[in-house]
Amino acid sequence: MDLSLYSGETLGLIGPNGSGKTTLINVVSGLLYADGGSLLFYGSRIDRMSPHRRSHLGINRTFQIPHPFYGLTVRENVDIALLFGRMKKRTDLEQKSEDILKLTGLSELSEHRAGSLNTSQKKMLDLAKALATEPRILLIDELAAGLNSNETEVVAGLLREVKKNVDAMLVVEHVMNFIKKVTEDVVVFDAGKVIFSGRFADAVRDGRVREVYLGTVRSS
Ligand SMILES: Nc1ncnc2c1ncn2[C@@H]1O[C@H](COP(=O)(O)OP(=O)(O)OP(=O)(O)O)[C@@H](O)[C@H]1O
Ligand SMILES: [Mg+2]
Repeated sequence: MDLSLYSGETLGLIGPNGSGKTTLINVVSGLLYADGGSLLFYGSRIDRMSPHRRSHLGINRTFQIPHPFYGLTVRENVDIALLFGRMKKRTDLEQKSEDILKLTGLSELSEHRAGSLNTSQKKMLDLAKALATEPRILLIDELAAGLNSNETEVVAGLLREVKKNVDAMLVVEHVMNFIKKVTEDVVVFDAGKVIFSGRFADAVRDGRVREVYLGTVRSS
């Protein structure tokens, strides 16, 4: 595939199960190395760079299935990301931590153990941890899965807020209603290939996109 994420952009990435969305995030964040091709970050090759170095450079992501440090509190999880995510000496740890917890709606849960959170809360904590590393590029993997419509609205608003502090954002999601609230620009994957790139409104009318989602429509 050939895919660019531009500064200032929020790009939605959609596609059926198994089409390669999470694999792409894993390759960009460094959990997987690509067998071929090249990966550039602001013009420099980063294909073989370790995930933690990419994090220090400013690439971070959330996980489709988050695994926080279960035995630590919500705040401690965020503090660890703040301290080690960008290898910065922090004098403003407490304030930064408060700000991130507030933004992600976790303030009241800050002293709870991460292991006691429900799935949506764990996803918010995962976002909080990613934000604590001060990413320039943020990759989001299915943050809205399992949320009701009110929660979807809140999380979409949160991502629009988050976007103000990052250069670019890639948002993987199955919930179309959520994508629509976050961005108009989408890429559609099928079997590891980009089959559509353009406006969301055009994607839902595109014949190939409809086919991968709905199957071939036969006239009787
Ligand atoms: N390390 C790997 N080696 C080989 N195949 C893999 C690897 N990781 C994932 N796959 C396969 O690649 C395909 C893409 O998987 P991926 O998890 O990226 O899809 P996805 O688009 O995120 O799907 P979903 O919407 O269900 O999360 C799947 O068939 C998966 O089984
Ligand atoms: Mg996935």
